[in-house]
Amino acid sequence: MILLDGKIASEAIKKDIAGEVSRWTLEWGKKPHLAAILVGDDPASQTYVRNKEKDCNQVGINSSVYRFSSDISKERLIECVKTINEDPDIDGLIVQLPLPAHFSEQEIIETIDPSKDVDGFHPVNVGRMVLGLPSFVPATPAGIVDLLQYYNVTTRGKECVIIGRSNIVGKPLANLLSRKGGVGDCTVTLCHSHTVDLAKVCCRADIVVAALGRPRFLKADMVKEGAVVIDVGISRVEDNTAKSGFRLVGDVDFEQVAPRCSYITPVPGGVGPMTRLSLLKNTLQAAIKRNKM
Ligand code: GUN
Repeated sequence: MILLDGKIASEAIKKDIAGEVSRWTLEWGKKPHLAAILVGDDPASQTYVRNKEKDCNQVGINSSVYRFSSDISKERLIECVKTINEDPDIDGLIVQLPLPAHFSEQEIIETIDPSKDVDGFHPVNVGRMVLGLPSFVPATPAGIVDLLQYYNVTTRGKECVIIGRSNIVGKPLANLLSRKGGVGDCTVTLCHSHTVDLAKVCCRADIVVAALGRPRFLKADMVKEGAVVIDVGISRVEDNTAKSGFRLVGDVDFEQVAPRCSYITPVPGGVGPMTRLSLLKNTLQAAIKRNKM
């Protein structure tokens, strides 16, 4: 069993990104710039945004955060998005999700200029990705593809089963892994809560991706001997032996499943660190395109 170590892979790829950012910065005389909008005081969102600032700083990308209290009106928020859309100094924009319940996230996402939508959530980018056109790809699926590529895991002709049909992981990943060439050419099955006999479907898979958000859901009897297992989940579970009283686990029952696998991602330290790269890559791509215009 080989561990698909996202920390090792992401550190190596981050160095490449930093090199590229530095070359472009010299040429343009300015750094790429990512803006984030953070509404409310959700602790997980605050951590995500702080990490994004740290990542940007590490590779030489400027970052700024626009913070609002959770009672901000839709109009004010849209006004902020539009101001950033028009700011020639800003290359990429993300609106940290989830937004407070009184917002339609989709409505806000659709106000982002697709050429600055480095999360790849705008329908224009989703549509372009499906058509195989250049587009921003959402962070988690892009990170999984990068991790498979880093470890030279063959995907061509493989049966891939993805559990979870979310807009930000399952659906785009199904699309990427079934596209022609590169880390693609898989025969993909996208499973969800209405899939009949999920264990049987999973047992067919050469590659299983667990992205349903249920701690330790994937058990050994759902995995074929020699399969590649990608764990997208991350949940806190009680653990009295840990100093903090909790432990982070994925959607895969790692202890049971790992001995059956050819490759498996750990949690933490697997998919997580890889997802953080995508935003940096997308911001650099946005800046390259903007500076060519
Ligand atoms: N919240 C959790 N993950 C993400 C992400 O990838 N992008 C944004 N904007 N919000 C998130």
